[in-house]
Amino acid sequence: MSCISATEDLNGAAAVVTGGTRGIGLGIAEYLAERGASLAVVWHRHEAAARAAEERLASRMRTGRRLLLLQGDAGDPAVVAAHHARVRAELGAVAVLVNNAGIMLPEVFEKVSATLWEETLRTNLSSAFCWSREVIPGMKEKGFGRIVSIASIAARGGGVIGPHYAASKAGMLGLTRYGARELGRFGITLNAIAPAFIEDAGIFVGYSAEQKAELATRTATGRLGRVADVVRAFAYLLDSPFVTGVCLDVNGGAFMI
Ligand SMILES: NC(=O)c1ccc[n+]([C@@H]2O[C@H](COP(=O)([O-])OP(=O)(O)OC[C@H]3O[C@@H](n4cnc5c(N)ncnc54)[C@H](OP(=O)(O)O)[C@@H]3O)[C@@H](O)[C@H]2O)c1
Repeated sequence: MSCISATEDLNGAAAVVTGGTRGIGLGIAEYLAERGASLAVVWHRHEAAARAAEERLASRMRTGRRLLLLQGDAGDPAVVAAHHARVRAELGAVAVLVNNAGIMLPEVFEKVSATLWEETLRTNLSSAFCWSREVIPGMKEKGFGRIVSIASIAARGGGVIGPHYAASKAGMLGLTRYGARELGRFGITLNAIAPAFIEDAGIFVGYSAEQKAELATRTATGRLGRVADVVRAFAYLLDSPFVTGVCLDVNGGAFMI
């Protein structure tokens, strides 16, 4: 496969979405299922969400495609190696990797403990490195690969969660740019998406109508983002072989406010 067009069936090509059982990751996994991928989604702590996602994804898979749910810490290199071995054996070499698993635990600078720092860097950044390192050899063999990492507006302007979160997300952009330089000649693109204020994902799901209305005033569009807005950006990157090393900002123009 040298190129995927917007209408093309992914024909059972293997895709991995870390954190694909909730929020943004689930939205992207659903899109990949509908496009005809075989799918592995990684989850960590929330079994009920994983079971609900499994049912939802199973109903969207095309005939003959495989769906795997993999439980474990995507930031642990040994877990990632074991998960990847299973994906290779059962779905084949990975064509599409979405580095989405993430935690967002707010804390002010001087109160960020060594534990919080390490856990955030491991979950958000090391997971992207470990999974990318695993799948790159198979992508090179195929002469095709798409690696998309879900960063954050915090990678650009610092954000409001804390230094641990901002550093983890900014690190994803460096990883993306370096990988894009080294791997472009093998047909592999690496890109990032930097969302902000996605109201149907993560911490924003629990916000009240008043809190959401206040947040919306921080965008130029006057509304919050939705998972579907991020999926649209992902679809563009999936279908764009000449776009690599970029970060798409999906934030309703929040930079200008
Ligand atoms: N929501 C937003 O507005 C927003 C804005 C900017 C950036 N982002 C980024 O977008 C990504 C997705 O965010 P979201 O809001 O959709 O989050 P979410 O709803 O909280 O979902 C997070 C997903 O990541 C998984 N996960 C967490 N830690 C993991 C680990 N160590 N190993 C494997 N999987 C793990 C979770 O699995 P379990 O549930 O099983 O733990 C869950 O499936 C994150 O990287 C986040 O930083 C989100």
